[in-house]
Amino acid sequence: MIPAGFVQELLARVDIVDVIGRHVPLRKTGANLVGLCPFHAEKSPSFTVSPTKQFYHCFGCGASGDAIRFLTEHLGLGFVEAVHELAQQVGLQVPQDDASPQQREQAQRRREHDATLAGVLKTAADHYRQQLKASPRAIEYLKRRGLTGEIARAFALGYAPDSWRGLASVFPRYDDPLLAEAGLVVVHDDGGETKRYDRFRDRIMFPIRNVKGDVIGFGARVVDRGEPKYLNSPETPLFHKGRELYGLFEARTALRERGVALVVEGYMDVVALAQLGLPNAVATLGTACTPEHVAKLLRFTDRVVFSFDGDAAGRRAAVRALEAALPHASDTRSFRFLFLPPEHDPDSYVREHGREAFERLMAQATPLSRLLVDVAQAGCDLATAEGRARMLAQAQPLWSQLPDGALRRQLLGELARLGGLGVDELASLWRVGASPPPATRIVDARPAPAAPRRGGVLTRQPPRRP
Ligand code: UTP
Ligand code: MN
Repeated sequence: MIPAGFVQELLARVDIVDVIGRHVPLRKTGANLVGLCPFHAEKSPSFTVSPTKQFYHCFGCGASGDAIRFLTEHLGLGFVEAVHELAQQVGLQVPQDDASPQQREQAQRRREHDATLAGVLKTAADHYRQQLKASPRAIEYLKRRGLTGEIARAFALGYAPDSWRGLASVFPRYDDPLLAEAGLVVVHDDGGETKRYDRFRDRIMFPIRNVKGDVIGFGARVVDRGEPKYLNSPETPLFHKGRELYGLFEARTALRERGVALVVEGYMDVVALAQLGLPNAVATLGTACTPEHVAKLLRFTDRVVFSFDGDAAGRRAAVRALEAALPHASDTRSFRFLFLPPEHDPDSYVREHGREAFERLMAQATPLSRLLVDVAQAGCDLATAEGRARMLAQAQPLWSQLPDGALRRQLLGELARLGGLGVDELASLWRVGASPPPATRIVDARPAPAAPRRGGVLTRQPPRRP
């Protein structure tokens, strides 16, 4: 719990004009400032910020609130995260009733260290961006991929020159351990001698930003051909592949405006789709989709379409995405799964068939309920009792991840019908409302913020504090 008094003090200390000004270009008119509203699409500014009231208000869409509200709404931060973010900006320490002084100090040191690392990554990203301007070959490659300078700027694309110690020109100490910790420099022991060199060389750089806009890592593509095609930052204190989505920062306004998120597999897909009129795409970072990814997206929209290649690997990835979505699939949310023809990824599909054709595919994509039933039926001959029983056994760990609601109950009915049982029989077989759920592959499924899981079968003990 954060004491209410502290929140008041914090709001008195921050200036909402600074807070919003970091995200929205504002211009002064009389006592207030105005800008284009980040919460809806508009051509002329109806978004006002009042320095005296420390409040924002949009006359177009009615969005309004204080600095904390702005961060929770615009960046999708949680309340506690937003308070910490603002406190950091004005140098206040957030009092926490349940933390010991040592824990508090440790947390503070960690935040400071993270901020230092973020500074290092920002310096590198700025450097790579400058280097792109100086590399006709890299620019030519991006142009050939159909990208304009404008979109390259929006995604802060860069280029890492073909040099073993390129970063030595921007950091005063190349052997600074922070460079290795940030994943920029590789340190390796060469027979007792420590060797250091740039991780990213001769590659197009895609900075990965968190929802606040800080660079936390990079994806890096070879220019044209070469192996490996993509190189990603290693896991660092700032960068966790299982939590971050490429393009989320850039897509955040479009996600609200369009009301739907498209999840794709590649960095280039995200950038190319933005170029082609689909700015609401994000990508997982060469890993399977996790429940944390989904939770993060749901801060911005309650409709998600996952897109996959139409091959066996795509099918496997879809099952993982299904598992990640299930705990979040409350009745007001919609998840769909789009399988592209085998020869295409989203980028190539839109280039060949156009945006509208792709949007039609999105609208017709397989709903979560159907995919669940399909996956449950895999390898089962429903004409036999054994096949129906097996189908139910495969369905149970998926179905039991759903939060209670109309969708969950309808699926129980559908599975019962397919499985040749009555609903009550199936409910008693699965002991709905009695036993805890069996262990499944979803290990870090956290309940969705807006829809806590209810119903006996889903209730889990909250994780204990370490
Ligand atoms: P793809 O090879 O499908 O990439 O890998 P792409 O986006 O279509 O690339 P282009 O169009 O050739 O530029 C999809 C994703 O898998 C991860 C990356 O995250 C990539 O965006 N990947 C791929 C790697 O991490 N390493 C690789 O060598 C290849
Ligand atoms: Mn591609």
